[in-house]
Amino acid sequence: MIGKVRPLVLAAALVVAGVATADPAEAATTLGASAAAKGRFFGAAVANSHLGEAAYATTLDREFNSVTPENEMKWDATEPNPGQFTFGAADNIVNHARGHGQSLRGHTLVWHNQLPGWVNQITTGSALMTAMQRHINGVAGHYRGQIAYWDVVNEAFADGTGGGLRSSIWTQRLGFNTGWIEQAFRLARTADPNAKLCYNDYNTDGQNAKSNAVFNMVRDFKARGVPIDCVGFQSHLNINGVPGDYQANLQRFANLGVDVQITELDIGGSNFTTQANNYRTVVQACLNVSRCNRIVTWGVTDKYSWRASSTPLLFDGNFNKKPAYNSVLAVLNS
Ligand code: XIL
Repeated sequence: MIGKVRPLVLAAALVVAGVATADPAEAATTLGASAAAKGRFFGAAVANSHLGEAAYATTLDREFNSVTPENEMKWDATEPNPGQFTFGAADNIVNHARGHGQSLRGHTLVWHNQLPGWVNQITTGSALMTAMQRHINGVAGHYRGQIAYWDVVNEAFADGTGGGLRSSIWTQRLGFNTGWIEQAFRLARTADPNAKLCYNDYNTDGQNAKSNAVFNMVRDFKARGVPIDCVGFQSHLNINGVPGDYQANLQRFANLGVDVQITELDIGGSNFTTQANNYRTVVQACLNVSRCNRIVTWGVTDKYSWRASSTPLLFDGNFNKKPAYNSVLAVLNS
């Protein structure tokens, strides 16, 4: 009897521990399930306006187990007038995701783009800080308990060799130091204590002046107990490829004690073979970094991509799987 029970106990223990089966015959057949077998999530940015399209929703719900609202949680969408919050479109995406067991990334609380006009017209630092506090409380508070990861601050750093913050309403009113970023993270932690909090940016996908500046901020935040849990690497890449130190760059951030995530992946390219190879490189790099726990493509289909002319996603305009899809699935199952 005991001899028959033991394997069952062992199998149950492996299931509880989330240990994936190594049998290729049992490899999962969707991005989400295959990523889950590796302890990761595989997600997509979602536009509320397309959820009513059957092929779009079917593809999303079959393949992806993480959802990021593409525009619906941004400031212009959620607080078009001071203190007046509108959550209809974002709520619809959240309800869809929850109904399909998909984890949510909130995007984004503090950014210099897609701000309503009234924010850009604020003339003093104290008034802007008050507006930021109300906004973070309003939006992160509304979704309290429902968001796995929030992009608290998006794209605060400048491109180029300077290594500083970008000029924007934020730095112009609140200064070229990270104090206002710190404040945003502290407010977000209070508004939704269970959400993991991320800093998110682009052109930080290899080691360069910009990623070094982000790195220094994260190291400083961790050293001083500022509540940051994660760094998002947008990874809007092109056919020329993935930086050679992509994995090393993820790893050095992970070594600071934060999760790292690929948050807005798309790789332009009319040569689908090259594109598939680049996707493989990115996904393999993430799998090689234990704290890289989520990969999100910035859309479902090339048809609705913000970079539609460079056909950068895993499904074509007819929702057919592209070579890049097959290479990603193969890496996830490897
Ligand atoms: C883009 C959306 O995809 C577009 O629909 C919108 O018109 C502009 O914003 N970095 C980000 C994303 O953090 O929010 C941006 O999304 C793409 C670049």
